[in-house]
Amino acid sequence: MINLNGRVAIVTGAAQGIGKEVGLSLARAGADVVIVDVVDKLFEVVKDIKKHGRNTLGIKCDVSNYNDVKNAVDQVIDKFGGVDILVNNAGIYPFRPILEMNEEDWDKVIGVNLKGVFNFTKAVLPKMIEQKRGKIINIASIAGAVVGFMNLTHYSASKAGIVGFTKSLALEVAKYRINVNAISPGPILTEGTEILGHEMYEQIKMAIPIGRWGKPEDVANLVIFLASDESNFITGQNIVIDGGYTLQ
Ligand SMILES: NC(=O)c1ccc[n+]([C@@H]2O[C@H](COP(=O)([O-])OP(=O)(O)OC[C@H]3O[C@@H](n4cnc5c(N)ncnc54)[C@H](O)[C@@H]3O)[C@@H](O)[C@H]2O)c1
Repeated sequence: MINLNGRVAIVTGAAQGIGKEVGLSLARAGADVVIVDVVDKLFEVVKDIKKHGRNTLGIKCDVSNYNDVKNAVDQVIDKFGGVDILVNNAGIYPFRPILEMNEEDWDKVIGVNLKGVFNFTKAVLPKMIEQKRGKIINIASIAGAVVGFMNLTHYSASKAGIVGFTKSLALEVAKYRINVNAISPGPILTEGTEILGHEMYEQIKMAIPIGRWGKPEDVANLVIFLASDESNFITGQNIVIDGGYTLQ
């Protein structure tokens, strides 16, 4: 069992889905966990984490706004004294054909999914560098990072961008003992993907060699490993977790 006692973690987009499970798993592993999201539902996750007896804090914050993000990270450092783990998970995936996509649609997706990763990373890095310790885990996607997806050009561009960002940042901060990795999930059943409907669910399931959709726990288990000392020699990687979906 991995032990993250005494570590302070921030998880973005953690009111539901993968982020929520990541937050709960980090707390179960012993970390103090900060839950960041744009919706009030985040405070329910904070209550759940308190039940695990961990210190926690909920912050309503839009990851695409640097001032909001800087304020959020300042609050975390005030309360906990540092930050050891950052999970950049917040993301949106509004399906839109390129011919129907306008500049606003493009900016919104890039702003949340890609600039959000830059914003939080930039805000936590000075503290991690001072501590000479840190784990940054960016949630990308098989879309863009591994394969193409219909009607998700903006999303795919943002996720491919996250992988490039991850590799370059890993090089810059390795000397401070900060590890930066990306995770590219395949189909994971969450509140966000549930809206695709039953037919799409079954179609996708049939294309997954392991024979089922992924669960938020599948991704959370990998996050825990990448957040722990057990993965100290892994940096700049994009780890695919998709039940074999992109193998054929
Ligand atoms: N579910 C999948 O199949 C899948 C596959 C590959 C990658 N991903 C990625 O995993 C991450 C989580 O996906 P999910 O399915 O759990 O999503 P979800 O839609 O269920 O949850 C995303 C959360 O992010 C929050 N959020 C949205 N915009 C935000 C903003 N500007 N600032 C802060 N929080 C914001 C939402 O309120 C929500 O709570 C995303 O980055 C997504 O792209 C998901």
